[in-house]
Formats: sequence, structure tokens, C-alpha cells
Amino acid sequence: MKNDGATEKLVAGFSKKSKAEKIAWISEQFSQPEQAKALLDTYAHPDSLRQSAHDDFIENAVSNFYLPLGVAPNFIINGKMLTIPMAIEESSVVAAASNAAKFWADKGGFTAQVLDTEKAGHVHFIYEGDTAKLHAFFAAHKSRLLQATEPITKNMRARGGGITRLELIDKSDLISGYFQLDVRFDTQDSMGANFINSCLEQLATSFKEFVAQHTSFSEKEKDVEVVMSILSNYVPNCLVTAAVSCSVDKLLPSPEESKLFAEKFVQAVRIAEVESFRAVTHNKGIMNGVDAVIIASGNDFRAVAAGVHAYAAESGKYRSLSKAEIKEGVFHFSLTLPLAIGTVGGLTKLHPMVRWCHELMGMPDAKSLMEIIAVAGLAQNFAAVKSLVTTGIQQGHMKMHLLNILNQQGATKQEKAAAITHFKTQQVSYHAVTDLLQKLRS
Ligand code: MEV
Repeated sequence: MKNDGATEKLVAGFSKKSKAEKIAWISEQFSQPEQAKALLDTYAHPDSLRQSAHDDFIENAVSNFYLPLGVAPNFIINGKMLTIPMAIEESSVVAAASNAAKFWADKGGFTAQVLDTEKAGHVHFIYEGDTAKLHAFFAAHKSRLLQATEPITKNMRARGGGITRLELIDKSDLISGYFQLDVRFDTQDSMGANFINSCLEQLATSFKEFVAQHTSFSEKEKDVEVVMSILSNYVPNCLVTAAVSCSVDKLLPSPEESKLFAEKFVQAVRIAEVESFRAVTHNKGIMNGVDAVIIASGNDFRAVAAGVHAYAAESGKYRSLSKAEIKEGVFHFSLTLPLAIGTVGGLTKLHPMVRWCHELMGMPDAKSLMEIIAVAGLAQNFAAVKSLVTTGIQQGHMKMHLLNILNQQGATKQEKAAAITHFKTQQVSYHAVTDLLQKLRS
């Protein structure tokens, strides 16, 4: 491949440099180094202790990258009132969640329920030998393997969790000699990634050791190759469901409007159940709510997104995660999704804003947080589909987007107020806002 001297620009030992040296080096990559450095400094926390806590999260930290933290009040979940914290950059999401919360508050609110909390991980290995011998060996040594993990699982077991299942799975129909140790876990209130991976690595080491000691295996059979040991973010048995329902005629002010709305809403969800182009966008709307709470609560949004989308494709076709129906005059709307999250450990201890968000939610345990996140997803989905089948999405979006455009154009407080009044009756577009600002300024 052509190399325009790129390798000569390699920076040696970057991670060993001090933070100031890193900032100086990276600023020099900009056409205006002073300005680039000043911006990094502006976004650094003025309290050096707080800043160093952030710096310790990752390698090569040079500043902070802000996301707005919003709150969506008026959520009634299983009869209790809650304000949900949401960290997100997309302008309409918090407003939509708040609207949905208020909409359902006088119709009984949301119900939510955790269905299961099982997590999974695997030791993936290659064994090119007699399958029956391997199964016999596993049956004879399973409890020894579990014993080898006991020092790691001790604290988790004391909290009521631990390894719940260990199986040998033959996957050699997929790849020659491919087997798994399939391990299931209960990680209580922690997401459990470190715990699961530590258990798996210990199982892999002990497995290889016990195989090597086993006299009935040939030398070739003893040569088990552990390819990797890792948790799975596919968690179809770590499920939560959230739901709303009310009499169809109570949905909107007039019974006629309500009936039409309910029918169109159900049709829209059905389309997302059978049509992948729509399903992906429909589920993206759900993830607007889910991710915002996942981030605010200090959880891993990449892990959750990977698991949720795999679950949506579980049938072999990517489908809507939510369902809607009208049954005996009652509108039902619900969502089931897999969520491997935690309320202890990780960022929950380290990030003061994460802690603040947990306090706002009443210090939920992992199951309660799963319920809150599912409700945020359902509320978001309801708000999006409601807009789509009534006014269209752009009306609400552009109103929120108006503020972003005004900020981009450096609008003053007075200009913003004038623009908000003006666009109450006019369609928002980038050009329309620019024109108005020009008029106001001339
Ligand atoms: C935009 O962020 C999300 C929506 O596209 C979701 C949907 O179409 O259901 C509005």
C-alpha cells in the first residue's frame, strides 16, 4: 500500500508523556495551536481533583467531551412517580420523553417488570479428538472446574449471585473441532463484565490444565487450543418488559380522533414488525430513550445496543422491539428488551454525575434500573410513533432544532425570543432562520 511518509510521523511513547506534553503535541496538529489548546483547557474541569478522576477513566485523556444532561419528569412507573435523567445530544428526545410521561400519567402510568437476569459467557476452544471422551471428561471434571473459580466467585456468591450453569457445547458442525464451555451467570446488581471475564479466564486455564493431566486423552487430544474466553453481550435471558394501556376512547380528546389514532398507531407498529427498513428506525427511536438513561446511569451503551439489536433480529429477521394492539376496546403498547446493566461498581462509584443520576432515581437496584430504562425506551417510541402518525416528525423536531440553529448563528437572547415567536406559525428551516436573523440585525 502507498505510504506518503506516514510511518515517519509515528509518535513514540505517546502514552508515557505527561498530560501537558500530550496537549502540547496534539495542539500542534491544528492550524491554530493556541486556539486548539485553549478549547481543550476551557472544557477541562476547574477543580483539578475532579478533572484527574476523569483523566483516570481512559488513556491519553486531554479534556472532557460534554453531553447535555436533561431530566424528564412525571414518569409514573409501577405506581411510583419518578424523574428520569437523560444524557443525550439529540434536541427532541427529552421533550418527547417528558410529553409521553405526562400523556400516560393520567392514564395509569407505565408498568414494568424484569423477566430474567441471566448473563452468559464462553470459553471458545478447538478440540480435534474423540467427542465422547471429551463429554465424559467434562462430566467427570465439571465440579472441579467450578471449584477452581470459587476464589473469584466468593463475594458474588455471598451477594446471592455467581455461576448458575456450566455446559460443554459441541459446535463442530459450524467449525471443525469447535467446542464451547457455555457459562451462565447471576451478577446481582453489577453489570458483571469483569467478574464474568475473570471466571471465564480461570475456567479456560483450569480446563487446559485438567485436560493435560487426563490420562485417557492422546497427546493430540490434550492439545486443546483455547481461542478466547469472553462474556457475550447477547443476553436474550436478561429481559425486561414495559407497558402502557388505556381505553381507546381515552387516548385523545374526542372518541373519533382516538379510534383513528389508535388504529393508525397499531398499523405503524405492525409495519415495524414486518419491514426491516422501518424496524431499524423504529428501534432507533426506542434506543433514543434507552441510551440516554444508560449513559446517565454510567452503563455501557455499546454493550446494550449490541445486545438489543441482536435480540431484535432473533427470529432471523430484524423486527420491532415493541408491540401494539387494540383488544376489546383497550389500546395496549409494550416493549421487551434485553438489558445487561448494573447499579454498583464501574462508573457508578467514580463519576459524580452518574451518582447524582442514581440518587435522582432513588438509588435503584439493577432490576429497578432495567425497568426505568425500558420505560424510557417505550415512552420515546410512543412519542415518536404518535408524532409520525399525526403531525409528522418534523414539526416537533424543527422547533427544538431552532434553538440549535440560533446558537450556531450566535443569536442573542432577544433574537432568540423573537425567533421563537416568529416560528410558532412559520416552518423552521436553516435558511428561514438565517433570513430572519438578517432582518432582525439590519
Ligand atoms: C429520531 O431520532 C427517531 C425517529 O426516527 C424514530 C422513529 O421513526 O420511530 C423519530
